[in-house]
Amino acid sequence: MRTQIAIIGSGPSGLLLGQLLTGAGIDNVILDRVGKDYILGRVRAGVLEEGTVRLLEEAKSAERLHAEGLPHDGFSLAFDGRDHRIDLHGLTGGKRVTVYGQTEVTRDLMVEREASGAVTIYDAANVTPHDFDGSTPYVTYEKGDVTHRIDCDFIAGCDGFHGASRKAVPEKAIRTFEKVYPFGWLGLLADVAPVNHELIYANHPRGFALCSMRSATRSRYYIQCSLEEKVADWSDDRFWDELRRRLPAHHAEALKTAPSFEKSIAPLRSFVAEPMRFGRMFLVGDAAHIVPPTGAKGLNLAASDVHYLFEGLSEFYGDRSSAGIDAYSQKALARVWKAVRFSWWMTTMMHRFPDTDDFDQKIQEAELDYLTHSRAASTALAENYVGLPF
Ligand code: APR
Ligand code: PHB
Repeated sequence: MRTQIAIIGSGPSGLLLGQLLTGAGIDNVILDRVGKDYILGRVRAGVLEEGTVRLLEEAKSAERLHAEGLPHDGFSLAFDGRDHRIDLHGLTGGKRVTVYGQTEVTRDLMVEREASGAVTIYDAANVTPHDFDGSTPYVTYEKGDVTHRIDCDFIAGCDGFHGASRKAVPEKAIRTFEKVYPFGWLGLLADVAPVNHELIYANHPRGFALCSMRSATRSRYYIQCSLEEKVADWSDDRFWDELRRRLPAHHAEALKTAPSFEKSIAPLRSFVAEPMRFGRMFLVGDAAHIVPPTGAKGLNLAASDVHYLFEGLSEFYGDRSSAGIDAYSQKALARVWKAVRFSWWMTTMMHRFPDTDDFDQKIQEAELDYLTHSRAASTALAENYVGLPF
């Protein structure tokens, strides 16, 4: 088989890139090692920046997002038993975010891809990029006992943190940066009305908590937990009790509960690989970088990578210029590092670290007090939360 762009990974990065390319008449094939149902079973964050929404519109995959997504003009930082609202809309001159689950974004993109007739190969084993250092790269994969080969112009490595693309790069050609946090998030999904119409990020002596949502009738809640915790030890009742303890009293009293239908523990990590281009292969999204979920930046960063790469590839095929693809890594990384910084900062400010001493604790309290009482500081938070431009 031959295509222009071989895309490894059918997560939001691969699917969004594929849709934009197909729309521009650039042929592409997507390969994933798992199947559609498995991909749609993953629960991930759900806050979209305006730039991400714009890109989904460009990919003609935003119809349901516009009908069902919830526009949010602010969120709450809770500490010291009180709420402090961050007025995103007022502080950023009219910007807002949209709450819409990443699983739904993925589903919408899959539906559009199928309608377009573009090829996606699921359950492909041993997907491997080859010869991306030269001018004739190709990808191999196995199905049953047969090895297949796809020749292409470029390879887009959209295969997440554990994918094959980054692993195929020789060690000496890549530099990685990593910070692993000494705690995780225990998350729960339940069909019950959210405790508040906006998100609540809570810093409490017992640890961080987040009240989020998927719709007016589906809530997503998280509590900071130790990495030794086991999901099996957390009954719903234990979760709800712990969440209540970490929220201001009026929210704890208003919290409605229902049986959970998903519960999982996620570790928190910051990770960046540099550069994001290796000859004719590009890394995109989680394949190149991971952020802790505290700033809700994971999917939005994947979207800006896709934007820069799509721009570069369009220029390559449309104008026969490689200026865009040559600038991809540098442009993407400039935005990535700002989001990595923001996510690290939100995480540091909102969590209780096991080794925090009295001095660190006082600094955290001073930071929250300053942040919520200085318009300049609140504006910096809001500007990053709604998303830096791309
Ligand atoms: N071969 C083929 N496909 C692979 C391989 C492999 N070796 N390894 C992983 N994949 C597939 C996975 O099955 C998955 O469907 O690549 C896809 C990667 O998708 P994601 O992990 O969702 O990564 P990405 O598309 O970059 O999405 C970024 O997802 O993790 C969140 O916070 C992150 O919101 C961000 C978004
Ligand atoms: C979520 O809804 O899952 C969510 C929202 C905001 C975050 C992280 C996760 O910062």
